Amino acid sequence: MISEKQRSAEAACEYVKDGMIVGLGTGSTAEFAVKKLGERVREGLSIRGVPTSDSTRELAESEGIPLIDFSETMYIDLTIDGADEIDAELNMIKGGGAALLREKIVASASREEIIIVSGAKLVAQLGAFPLPVEVIPFGWQIVFNQLESMQGNPELRLKQGQPQLTDQGNFIIDCHFRKIENAEQLEINLNMLPGVVESGLFIKLCTRMILADGEQIIIKNRPSS
Ligand code: 5RP
Repeated sequence: MISEKQRSAEAACEYVKDGMIVGLGTGSTAEFAVKKLGERVREGLSIRGVPTSDSTRELAESEGIPLIDFSETMYIDLTIDGADEIDAELNMIKGGGAALLREKIVASASREEIIIVSGAKLVAQLGAFPLPVEVIPFGWQIVFNQLESMQGNPELRLKQGQPQLTDQGNFIIDCHFRKIENAEQLEINLNMLPGVVESGLFIKLCTRMILADGEQIIIKNRPSS
């Protein structure tokens, strides 16, 4: 039996058509999509991928998916990525896998951003999952203090006892807000702190959610604004 993650990923891959430039997400759910696209490329599908992390780049290369970067395109037709939490408005927390910065750049350049999730990721309110904030290493302690005064209950993300480095060589501070009342305003406030590169709040970027709940696939489109 295939998992919910695989089911949602494979449903999303059906939107990928010949000739498209495809954003390739990061994480265990997005991995299923990259593998499926690899399979289709080997069967003759012609696409070019833009990976959202070094690990996705490696996987896509091993799958034989031709890759490009933003020196070759200013837009992406469709991106398939996962999320840590998604709400009914299709706003999200992302960055559990530390790839939020490239993921957000790719999402912002995408005509369509398909988010693939299992049922457990859908929440009534964002914030139970720790919100990642990517900061430059210089002066990270200052940002940490500011996040503390914003009731973010910050925690520097560590890997083997050392600050975990993102693909850009930055640090991640995970914020335990628990309940985020106004995600749009919080994103603005976080991005105004000097030293913050990006937050894991993805507001109005998802255009379509594909959620797998058991055997069922639920598709929700963001109403055009
Ligand atoms: C990586 C991400 C991932 O999409 C998110 O963490 C979900 O991962 P998974 O599919 O493994 O649950 O944002 O930065």
